[in-house]
Amino acid sequence: MYLTDEQQAMLNGEQGEVMAKVMETLVRYGELFGAERLVPVTGKHNHLVTSFGLKMMTPVFDLMQKILDAGVASGQTFSVDPRPVDKAVPANFLQNFIFNKIMYATQDFYEGQLEKLGLMGKDAFTCTCYMDEVGNKPEKGDILSWAESSAVVYANSVLGARCNRNSGIIDLMGSIAGYVPEFGLLTDEGRKATWVVEVRTSKKPEAQLLGSAIGMKVMEAVPYIKGMEPWLGTELNDAACTYLKDFGAATASNGAVGLYHIAGLTPEAKEQGEALIADNAQVYVIDDAELQRVYDSYPVIWKNKDAKPKLCFMGCPHMSLEQLKSWTDKVEAALKAAGNSKVVIPTVFTAAPAVLAKFEKTEYAPRLKATGVITSYICPLMYMNNPLCGSMPVITSSNKLRTYTTARYYTDDEILMQITKGGK
Ligand code: F3S
Repeated sequence: MYLTDEQQAMLNGEQGEVMAKVMETLVRYGELFGAERLVPVTGKHNHLVTSFGLKMMTPVFDLMQKILDAGVASGQTFSVDPRPVDKAVPANFLQNFIFNKIMYATQDFYEGQLEKLGLMGKDAFTCTCYMDEVGNKPEKGDILSWAESSAVVYANSVLGARCNRNSGIIDLMGSIAGYVPEFGLLTDEGRKATWVVEVRTSKKPEAQLLGSAIGMKVMEAVPYIKGMEPWLGTELNDAACTYLKDFGAATASNGAVGLYHIAGLTPEAKEQGEALIADNAQVYVIDDAELQRVYDSYPVIWKNKDAKPKLCFMGCPHMSLEQLKSWTDKVEAALKAAGNSKVVIPTVFTAAPAVLAKFEKTEYAPRLKATGVITSYICPLMYMNNPLCGSMPVITSSNKLRTYTTARYYTDDEILMQITKGGK
């Protein structure tokens, strides 16, 4: 790999042993993927995926401490994925014991390390760091060192930034060194679409279902998606961005998509059109029947498939302000139609702390509270990692949560029916 004089000096230890190790890791990582050089990280803030103080993560804490002691982290600022626990989310005595004494017992210590390392603010814990309220929104063309898959795919696709699907810790290394290896989605060639997806559905496809179908088909390839204009329009307004947030997270978790282009909507597709499509791209047609096939293919891994749901999670990735507002309207109307005053299944809507703070200032907040829906900043996946929670019948409209946990997926309409009336 070609290194500049400055990079070579860092590798040679001119900025100390810890920085030399960081550079060595980045160089080796890049060489593995055929990178020929390291390029500067240009995003204003970084985003780290590791937000939880799991007891077994001692090597990570040790590494963080070495970085802090060596003083090489100065200058970097970052947001981080959501906190793993929140008292607002229902949990019984035993579940809480496991959360606080066994699983995330080192959370406070780890958060202290993050703060010293450059956390943007005490509450900068969310996977949707790119929301305006949070303030970590990269510019088009920015080079990033992120790892959270749902944020990487959003930054690449909707914002036009450039970031590979890095692993946790590599995100931190890139941020500290200020360089990342150039390969894959950082290159023009790597951003070309090798799949064309033609959407021919009779109604607006469920974001999380469409994303799942595409992710499972194209895996880590870049898809160019046609046929979405009737459903999303040609402007990246709040509604379109919210849709793409959920759609992208599903492509990234049900497959390994790091970038997609939507014809006539996402920045590179608007600029370059079909010139983004690589020669010999494969074609995938999605109609109503295909979406139904994908939906029907999801295994239900509850012990009792007919169990009454004990909890519903919405907001994986975290909900946007517009989503919290529109869901308040929907829950109110559905409760009224069902003749109920409160949700019939304990329901948690999750969002970034900064989004929740803004929501609290709106007239929607007391209305949502009156329906019995709880708001939280938690990561539902971290909650479900508690074995006593994972064995509960939990429902969600998040295809990421379905993929990684025992939670059962339902469409938004089905979720609404379940939480306001019971039954599908
Ligand atoms: Fe975000 Fe946690 Fe889901 S990080 S995407 S809420 S798994």
